Amino acid sequence: QNHYGGSEGDASLRRAVAEKIKKYNGIDIDVDAKPLELMITNGGTGALIGITQSYLRGKSALVFEPYYPYHRRILEEFGGKTESFALDQTLSFEKDALRSRCKELIGRAEYPLRAIIVCSPANPSGKVMTQTELEAVAEVAQELDLLVISDEVYEHYVTGEHQHTPIATLPGMWERTITVNSFSKSWNISGWRLGYAFGKGELITPINNAANVIYVCPATPLQAALSRVLMADGDYYPKLRDKFDSKRRFFSEGITSLGFDIYNSGSAFYIWARIPSDFSDALTFNEMLMEKAGVGMTPGSAFADTDDWDSHVRICIAREDSVLEGALEKLRSVLA
Ligand SMILES: Cc1ncc(COP(=O)(O)O)c(C=O)c1O
Repeated sequence: QNHYGGSEGDASLRRAVAEKIKKYNGIDIDVDAKPLELMITNGGTGALIGITQSYLRGKSALVFEPYYPYHRRILEEFGGKTESFALDQTLSFEKDALRSRCKELIGRAEYPLRAIIVCSPANPSGKVMTQTELEAVAEVAQELDLLVISDEVYEHYVTGEHQHTPIATLPGMWERTITVNSFSKSWNISGWRLGYAFGKGELITPINNAANVIYVCPATPLQAALSRVLMADGDYYPKLRDKFDSKRRFFSEGITSLGFDIYNSGSAFYIWARIPSDFSDALTFNEMLMEKAGVGMTPGSAFADTDDWDSHVRICIAREDSVLEGALEKLRSVLA
């Protein structure tokens, strides 16, 4: 277990992940299938790099803005381009607007559109796409023959009335969806660099070929360790969700009383909020907080090309309760 392994990942971890996908996503993966339907990757990032290398060189992918900055950086590093599609102030969108944005990009000579990146629940906003929105993406992707790259690394933090729906399960979407996931957050092991990608065999094989030459294989002893615990506790993910839901409630309540206007995302890893109305620029607001309270948030402008989100922040609540309590106390001392 300290030597090279297959680039597609450790056999027992692949089996455990297939079991997880079956249990939580209702998707049957044949781990023995050739071509390969599931591969372990060097984190979600490793999967996104393999996808970019395989499908997006000289092409572009659409992201919903506000977006996860690596969805841009990875593509640009590997010869692709990211284009954004602005969500409105309630973080919603219309199917027709999505269709026309895609049509605008698909026929151009340079970096024609090849894929839509769906990130639900989203980083930074936590937004969980509704069934109607997922269906809109599916319809546009099928109509324009686009791939969908579904980044689901926050799937286990969904708290609202809507369940997480993998877009790959929508009619006609298995053929064109590559799903990306990661253990970094849900197992608190971001330094282990373990994630996975799955989809139709013909879609996954090129990603595995790219992974093979980029990093040879994911870390073998760490995969073996994870394979033993991944499915051992049937309540692991519900407990994780409930723990984060209580952090979200606690922190949301605290900052709401300080004047933040919170977006009700339906998930609980990040809080996306308008800063108190006395302030309008989240960059200077954040600098002030860091200086006076020693508490940092990420300004909304980090996740957008437009200035639409300049007065918003993303707050990461993946910290011990005592740290969150302390942070709230410090914020109170400056803002109350
Ligand atoms: C939306 C999203 N996708 C993918 C990743 C990548 O995580 P990793 O490469 O550690 O698995 C992150 C990490 O922040 C993320 O927020």
